[in-house]
Amino acid sequence: MNRFVKRVPAFLLVATGVACEAGGQKEVSPDVQAAALEVGGSASRALMGTLVAQLTGAMQHGGPVNAVDFCSTSAIGLTSGVARQQGLDLKRTSMKVRNPANAPDEDETAALRYFESAIAETGELPSPWVQRAGRDEYRYYQPLTIAPPCLSCHGASGEIDPAVQAILDERYPGDLATDYAVGDFRGVIRVSIPAERLEER
Ligand code: HEC
Repeated sequence: MNRFVKRVPAFLLVATGVACEAGGQKEVSPDVQAAALEVGGSASRALMGTLVAQLTGAMQHGGPVNAVDFCSTSAIGLTSGVARQQGLDLKRTSMKVRNPANAPDEDETAALRYFESAIAETGELPSPWVQRAGRDEYRYYQPLTIAPPCLSCHGASGEIDPAVQAILDERYPGDLATDYAVGDFRGVIRVSIPAERLEER
């Protein structure tokens, strides 16, 4: 079978949403979908606000070297802090992780693939996505793209400040999260929401 013929069914599956079911996605009712967008959206905005504020502060107080040190020691802790405040579980993940502790599980991989296919197909970043991840859990996914400030740590490897690169090499020997350009899909914020919190509303 030639490559083109092989690719057509995949494209059609994605276009019709069947690929999501094949990836374990079950039906999400419109009410639950709306509630998950609200709860997940507000939690992911809280995390983005915290990370951007802290990262900007660290940059201003000591440039990218200080900021990369801050990110590597505090990003996971800040994420769990916001999760505790929200009473939800939050995570940042990507198909190209810097920290293996952020690697995607099976449902997160399905979500990342959904965003990648939708972007390949439409050229646009889709809206956040809601997934039924089990009997008792829904997941909200906020897609993240690369903006100019992200390049000092996720840009072309040859263009990252050598002092920043030295920290990355030391702390993340298997780093996959470089060579991005502005506008690239970088990954997601995943918010896990207990089903009862949405279904009771
Ligand atoms: C000052 C350096 C720095 C900047 C600027 C930066 N990051 Fe990161 N980023 C890191 C480090 C270090 C990690 C690994 C953190 C950890 O250990 O969890 C990381 C991890 C991530 C992760 C989690 C997945 C993974 O690869 O481990 C995402 C998603 C991410 N960054 C997105 C972004 C986006 C989007 C921007 C711009 C808005 C950005 N980053 C800007 C240094 C940076």
